Formats: sequence, structure tokens, C-alpha cells
Amino acid sequence: MPVPETLSVLGVTHATDGWTNTTQAILDKTGRRLLHQPSHPLAILKDLIFDEFPDFAHYDSLDPVVSAYQNFDSLGFAQDHPGRSKTDTYYINRDTLLRTHTSAHQLQLLAAGKERNGELLGRAKNGVAAPENERFLVAADVYRRDEIDASHYPAFHQMEGVCTFSRNEVRDQLCKTRDAEGPIASSAARLLDTTEIGASNPVQPEHSAEEAAVLAEHMKRTMNRMVVRILTKAVEAQRSSGALPAEGGQAEFPVRWIDAQFPFTSPSWEMEVLFQGEWLEICGCGVMKQTILNDAGTPGRIGWAFGFGLERLAMLLFGISDIRLFWSSDPRFAQQFSPGQINAFRPFSRYPSCTKDVSFWLPASGDFHENDLMDLVREVAGDLVESVRRIDSFAHPKTGKISQCFRITYCSMDRNVTNGEINAIQERVRSDMVGRLGVSLR
Ligand code: PHE
Repeated sequence: MPVPETLSVLGVTHATDGWTNTTQAILDKTGRRLLHQPSHPLAILKDLIFDEFPDFAHYDSLDPVVSAYQNFDSLGFAQDHPGRSKTDTYYINRDTLLRTHTSAHQLQLLAAGKERNGELLGRAKNGVAAPENERFLVAADVYRRDEIDASHYPAFHQMEGVCTFSRNEVRDQLCKTRDAEGPIASSAARLLDTTEIGASNPVQPEHSAEEAAVLAEHMKRTMNRMVVRILTKAVEAQRSSGALPAEGGQAEFPVRWIDAQFPFTSPSWEMEVLFQGEWLEICGCGVMKQTILNDAGTPGRIGWAFGFGLERLAMLLFGISDIRLFWSSDPRFAQQFSPGQINAFRPFSRYPSCTKDVSFWLPASGDFHENDLMDLVREVAGDLVESVRRIDSFAHPKTGKISQCFRITYCSMDRNVTNGEINAIQERVRSDMVGRLGVSLR
């Protein structure tokens, strides 16, 4: 695809190269700053979580443009890790990209958190002095190339939590907490945890089995507490709005832990919570790779980290059914929320949707990736596109050429769209597919 010689992101100009695949439609998202609109559901959720961690430093203004080193290398991603590929990540150029996760800031904050410049805005709440480089939360917009439907959007938000200790603290304090608070399963969350630290989810050679176990327990306890408190608030809000009877709603939130793998933690887990009848995946987490702490200049410390997406939780808490709504500037969306409050979203009238199919032969080079089509449609149609789905694929029996058919559903969230407008968009999509993706239309 043709790219301009430079890209300007948040006022900074970057040279492009053969790796550049970030579209203007995506760059436009970097300036939206949804987490800084106090009445936006994502900002409300961010603040609720920040409030659960008063003695952590809070960062929510870190630049989305990071180096490949920050996003991948510093975290131990292998050179051939699929996350690095151009089909999954928005590159500004070979060395510079839009962060794909908030973990991209782990090393930088561990190493330099004490610096206070405009970029590193650690916020200590309740007058507690937060040791910025020892315990922190990072809330931020992140970017991933992905399919288009009601729950996927190429820009979304994550919350990262990092908590480190000196080894003495782990030995003395954490073990004491464990003794004082009793076994973790007796906390408010009913706990389903059959995971075992062992060969398939190992302790790092730098850590003792006891250190890993105590860190993991502290992490699980902290996260249970946070999730239970936020979900309890949501149920209380439903009660006080009359959506639930005074005593109604879920009182207990079973949590389950599942073994997982990340390049930057070991052992690693995923946390899920049963909310309104469904297991909701909350986050990935684990004991931080010691190499990261060593590289940050703090080899004497060990720690845990978690990271999770804010949209899915916000969709549940506020009853928001389409992820595009978070980006809507329709006042009928924005006016429904107020800082500090979880309340149910009242959907406004849905406009009719319209589907268009496009069938084509893939380029003979075989050089076609679905996510290129997704970005192309987003660029042309913006948020008028609701979903893009492959509905057919076959190989011609004689020529071996591959034909595919995609169904594009257009639907505006906030206005009436004419047939003429959709037809013009579909025509642009079709001609751009030929010009930029090298397909031949059927
Ligand atoms: N960064 C991971 C992701 O985006 C989540 C994670 C963060 C996992 C911290 C472990 C520790 O999926």
C-alpha cells in the first residue's frame, strides 16, 4: 500500500519505511484521549481501579508511540513471535509502533519512574507518596490490527499493574500478610484454582519456590479484592437505580485461575470471574521476568504484574453492547454518564443496517491478509462499518486460484445514512481493494 514519506502522530513527525502500515483512520484515534474525559465510561472505570490502589503511582498520559524495543524486546518476545508481525501490529516504521499493550512501559517506568517530566504523570492519591518505580498502574490506549465486529476495535484501552518488593519484604512482610489474612480461598471471592506452579508453568531459576508462591498469592489476593469490589459496586448501582430489587443481584463473585503463558511473566495465569452467568476473562498476570527488573537496574527486587482490557469490563458494567459506542461523540451517549458512577446505558434508537458482499480472486502472489482489508474498510467507511466477515472461500478446481467473499455490514450508531452514501462507500472499498490489495473483483 502506498504510504506518505512521514507520519505525524500527536505533533511528532516520524519517517516512514517499508514497514509502515498505520492508516490515518488509526492515527486519528491517538488524539481522542477518552481516558481523560471524566464522564466517559472508560475513564470512570479507570478511576474506580485507580482508587482501589491508593498506594500505587497512577499513569494515564504516556505516549502511545513506543519503540519495538519497549513493546517487544524489553519484555523478552522472541524474534519470530507472531505479535511482532505487520499483520497484527501498527508500525510507524520498523523501529517505531503504536503500543499493542501497556506492558510496553514496564521497563521504562521501573527504571525511570522517579523522573517527573510532563510525560510521566504519576498521581498519588490520598496524600500517600507513591514510590513511582516500585508499584504503579498504567492506563492507556493500545492498538492492534484485528477483525471488525461488535466487540473488536483496532484501538482499545488497557490497565497494567506492577508491584515489586525487595526480597526481604517478600520474606518478612508478605509471609506475615498471608498468616494474618488466612488462606486465600476464604476471601469474598469464591476461588477456583487448580493451577500448580511446576514444569509447565515454572518458577524462574532466579526465584525460590517460596518467593514465587508468596508473590503469586499476594497478586491473586490483590486482584480478587479489586474485581470483587468493582463488581459489587456495579450490583449496588443496579439496586439503587431500581434495575434490581433491594436485595437482588449477585452477592458472590467466583473467580477462577487458569495457567497461561506470556513472554514477560513466569509462572503466568489468566483470571476469570463469573458475572451474570458468564465467565468473563479479566486479565493476564504473573510473576515478572527477573530479566526485566535486572535490566531496569533493580536486580534486588522481585514482583508481579497484571494487564487487562477495559472495554469488555466496561461493556458489562454499563450495559454497552457495541464497542464503537465508546468512540461516539453523540451527546446521547456522553450525557448518560457521570464521574464516579456506574449506571446502565439506555440504548438510543438503532438505525437500520445494510449489508454488501464483495467477491474477489486473491492476488496470484498470495500476498493478502484479512487485516489489510479490515484497515482498508475502516479507512473508507470509518465507524459506519459494523462488521466485516468472510462468508465464503474456495479454490478454482482447474486454476487453483482462490476466491473469497466478504460480507460488510454498515450501520451508523448516531445518524441516518442514505443508500447513496453507502453505495459510494462500497464503490470506494471495491476500487481501493483492486488498487491497494491487488485483488481482482468477480
Ligand atoms: N500485556 C498482556 C496482554 O496484553 C497482559 C499481561 C500484562 C500479562 C502483565 C501478564 C502481565 O495480553
